[in-house]
Order: sequence, then structure tokens, then C-alpha cells
Amino acid sequence: MFSSCVVLMCGIIGYIGSRKASEVITDGLKRLEYRGYDSVGIAVVGEKGLALLKEKGMVSDVSLALDFTRLEGNIGIGHTRWATHGAVCKENAHPHTDCRKDIVLVHNGVIENYMKLKSALVAKGHKFSSETDSEVLAHLIEEKTKTLPLLQAFRMAMNELEGSYAVAMISATDPEKRIFIARRNSPLIIGLGKGEMLCASDIPAMLKYTKTFVPLEDGDIAVLVRNGYKAYTLSGHETVRKQITVDWDADMAQKGGFLHFMLKEIMDQKHFIVQTLASDITEARSQIDRYKRIDIVACGTSYHTGMLFSILLQSMGKCAQAFIASDYQFVAKPDKDTLVFAISQSGETADVLSALRHAKDSRKIAITNTMGSSITSLVDSTIFLNCGPEIGVAATKTFTSQLAILSKIVYGMERLNPVSNVIGSMLEKENEIKAIAAKLVSKEHAFFIARGRSVPIAYEGSLKFKEITYIHSEAYPGGELKHGTLSLICEGTPVIALAPADESLPKLIGNIKEAKARGAFVISLTDSEDVSKESDLTIPLPKNLDPALHPFAMIVPLQLLAYHVSVLRGINPDRPRNLAKSVTVE
Ligand code: F6R
Repeated sequence: MFSSCVVLMCGIIGYIGSRKASEVITDGLKRLEYRGYDSVGIAVVGEKGLALLKEKGMVSDVSLALDFTRLEGNIGIGHTRWATHGAVCKENAHPHTDCRKDIVLVHNGVIENYMKLKSALVAKGHKFSSETDSEVLAHLIEEKTKTLPLLQAFRMAMNELEGSYAVAMISATDPEKRIFIARRNSPLIIGLGKGEMLCASDIPAMLKYTKTFVPLEDGDIAVLVRNGYKAYTLSGHETVRKQITVDWDADMAQKGGFLHFMLKEIMDQKHFIVQTLASDITEARSQIDRYKRIDIVACGTSYHTGMLFSILLQSMGKCAQAFIASDYQFVAKPDKDTLVFAISQSGETADVLSALRHAKDSRKIAITNTMGSSITSLVDSTIFLNCGPEIGVAATKTFTSQLAILSKIVYGMERLNPVSNVIGSMLEKENEIKAIAAKLVSKEHAFFIARGRSVPIAYEGSLKFKEITYIHSEAYPGGELKHGTLSLICEGTPVIALAPADESLPKLIGNIKEAKARGAFVISLTDSEDVSKESDLTIPLPKNLDPALHPFAMIVPLQLLAYHVSVLRGINPDRPRNLAKSVTVE
């Protein structure tokens, strides 16, 4: 029986050069593990031919247990997998091979027509050893090599695929020693080294070897040899793709002494925010002035940025609305008079990409952290966050950087000058927040409430909390509690109130009292004595803070709270269950 393997994201790395490929690949897989951590595999071609090792489990455990680096050879590919359906087992782990164990490949994405292709291949006598859609591709290429040279066989096979893919393939018997790669709706980037070439799903995996990259575009295929590469379109025409250079260094993708990437990324916000604020927003600002209707599309954490952006644009008199990207095509009719902002740290979120395709007649601007990502080719212009790679699955510094970009667009730079110090002062409260976290460890539910401009930050605080602590949590505009949710508040239920002293505070105090009267355990983020008096615990916000800075002051303690509750509950906050860093299927 065939079973579908829906892969949200996986990590791919390939190497060709003079180094020991297995060492480069194992190191790269460790850096890519945030993209998938169900199973892992490596294939290397050396003097003795093809060697392949794979198993279910985490990169560090499997690579050690199977001793990946014993494989000799200077060309190879590796994969770390994350699947939602289909067994997590050795057979389904990548790389996959054809019948002859000659073609070997790794794949990220979903081949939607794989059942049809598989039936035809089975009828021709191909024997399959896994349930995956990916293995079909190895056999399809094998079939085509019966009549075509390897490059054409690879290209023709890609032409038959429906769905999404990033693929890296080698052949045990290829006298020219090449890596064949291809992408559609799933990222794949070439790394240009000196006398060596790499490819990977993400830049951090290659930073140790190069800072110069060529992101492939949708429908591209490319052939890598030691000293260069050639890119082609699906129809076989040679093409040239833009080269980019990044100023990230390999250490940015390391924990740097912190227990988790997430904590490092929270702590780094004080510094990265300065880099982000140097980004040029003039084009975006002038487009906003030209358009009356502004749609914002995003998912998850980035959607919360979008919510705040829409509130602030509305206060400028704009007709602005934030849309959940996956629903945009069903609820909105963008036209040539619509300006669309797409917010996505990864730039690869399939829901966001399809929302942009829906807005085909509109002017489009992306806000992303990832140079060369798919989003950049679907928009008219891009603002980069410039906050370095984010490895923890839960978005932290990219959220704060997104806030910085939208705040600069709305308020201008001057009001944001103190932001780094504000973030720094909130980071200094880590020990107090850790003590509060200890009180939440064994709770089953938590509620985040706020009013007005603070509501999107409450949503984000709640999302961060639930995704890494596994404690059920919800966020509400305070006024909504009495319309239903109040029935869930009882003795000891944590209610986290975001209560900066702004025009909405008197109403929020009323909501805090309502919760308190039902026995809620209220933790407030506030600069108001009145709120502190009503609260069981207070995380103080700086006094007399410019409202433009409130979101920054509030999100940092909420990130730290989620982080510490997660760690106290014995969870790895960098890799929450069932979640992956970038979601490349709809
Ligand atoms: C939560 C989180 C996700 C992402 C969402 C969109 O911590 O990270 O909710 O925000 O999957 O991802 P991007 O911004 O890459 O489009």
C-alpha cells in the first residue's frame, strides 16, 4: 500500500570538492537540523563506489551511532527529515536510490502525482523499498537514463513532477562526478567555494565554507562540479542567476555558550535591532502614501506583526487589513489599487507565497529575513530584516525585527532611537521572569489579555507560550473575556495582562478585576501602580515610555517567560514537537 509522506520541511546539503564530503555534510546537517529532526541520512561516492547510511533519529545521535564521517569520498549529499504523515523509519529516511543503487537522491517537498508515477514504474518492473514520494523520483530518473544521458534524464524527470521539490542527486557511476539539483516551491541555494561547491536548503549550513551564494529560482535545475556550476531552465536553456554575498558568519548559527538557540536569539535582540533599523524603508513609506487600501498577508508570528501594522496604518487613516495568508485567496479581492505587504521571516512559507500569487495585479512589498528566498521573486520590492539567521523554531528576534521595520515605517527613526536600551532593560529582568515561570510550570491553561495596540503582542505572547510549553493558552482583547472565555477562569488560572499605561488602561483594569474576582492568578506587565495593586505578580515596564516602544518592552519578557516555562517542563524549546521552522506546503 502506498502512503503519502507530507513533508513540511527538511534539510538538504550537498558537497563536491577536495574535502572529505562526509565531514562537511555531517556538519551541515547539524546546522540544518532545525528544519527536520525525525531521521537523517548521507550518501557519499568514493573510490569504492556509493556508500549510504541512514536511520531515524536526531542528526547528532545517528551520525555518531552510524559513524557518518567514516565514509570516504569527495562528493556527497545529506538530508534531515521532518514528516507529518508516513512512518518515521529507516526505509523512509533519505537518501533514496533506484533499483541499481546508482542514482541516489534527497528530496524536500511533496510530489503530488507520485502515485501515478509509481504505478507506471512498478508496471515497468521497478522495485521500491520505501513508502515515500521521493523514492519515485530516483526510479523515474533511472528509467529515463535507459534512453537519455544523465543530465537530460534528470531534467525530463523534473518536467513530469507535480507539486513541490528541492532535490539533490548524485550517481555512483557518473564519470564526470557531478551533483544535480533542482527546485520548485522549496528552497535550494548553491554555495560557491574556492575549488569546491555546495548546495543546501539554507545558508547557515554553508557559512563555514563560503559567503557567496546563488539561490535557485523556481523551475531551475543546476549541475555542480568542483569548480563551478551551470543552471538551466526546465526546458533546458542555460540561464544565469543572481549571486548574493552575505555578511553573516558561521558563529551566528551557533549557540555561543547559551543552552538553547532560542535564548541566544532572545538575548541577541538588543544588538540586532540596531542592524534592522538601518534597513531602508523609504520605498515602502512612499508606496503607503500612494495607496489607500493596504492588505497585509502573513502567518503565525508574522501575522501578529501584520495585525499591529494594520492597526497603526489604520491610525494613519489607511484602509488597512491583516489577513491570515492561507485564507487570503478565499476572502480578499486585491486589485491594482491595492498595496500588499507580505511578512515572512523565512520567505518560504507556502501560504504566503500563494497569497502573493493571488494578488497578481497588486503592488507587492515583502518583509523577510532571507535573501534569495522565494518571496523575493514574487514582489516588487523587499525590505530585509538583517537580524542574522534564526535557528530556534519559535520566532523571537525576527518578530522583534519585523516590529522594528513596521515601527520605522509608521513612526520614523527618531522615536525608535532608545529601542535597544529598552530591550536591554527588559532582558535584565530574566531572573525575576524565571521565578515567575516556576509558578506556571504545572498549570494547564493560561490566558493573555490586552487592549488596543497591545492585543497583537498578547496574541504573540500566547502563541510563543503554547508552542514551546505545551500548556494550552489563549489571547483575548480584554473586553472579550466576559463574552464567553470568563467561564474558563477559575481559582489559580494564570491571566497575563499586558497593561501599559495608555488610553485603554482604565478598561483593561476592569477586565483584570473581572478575572481576579473569579480567582485568576494575575501576572501583569505594567508601568501603572493601579494595575500592580490588582495583580498577584508584576513585571514592571519602564515608566513614561513612548508608546512606540511598548511592543518591544512587552514582547521580550513574554518570550523569556515562555522559554523558562518550557525549559522547566523539560522541553527543548528549540525543537517543539510537531513544528518546523519553515512551512513549505499549504
Ligand atoms: C511561531 C512561528 C510561526 C511562524 C509562521 C510563519 O514561533 O515561528 O508561527 O511565524 O510559520 O513563518 P514565516 O514568518 O517564515 O512566514
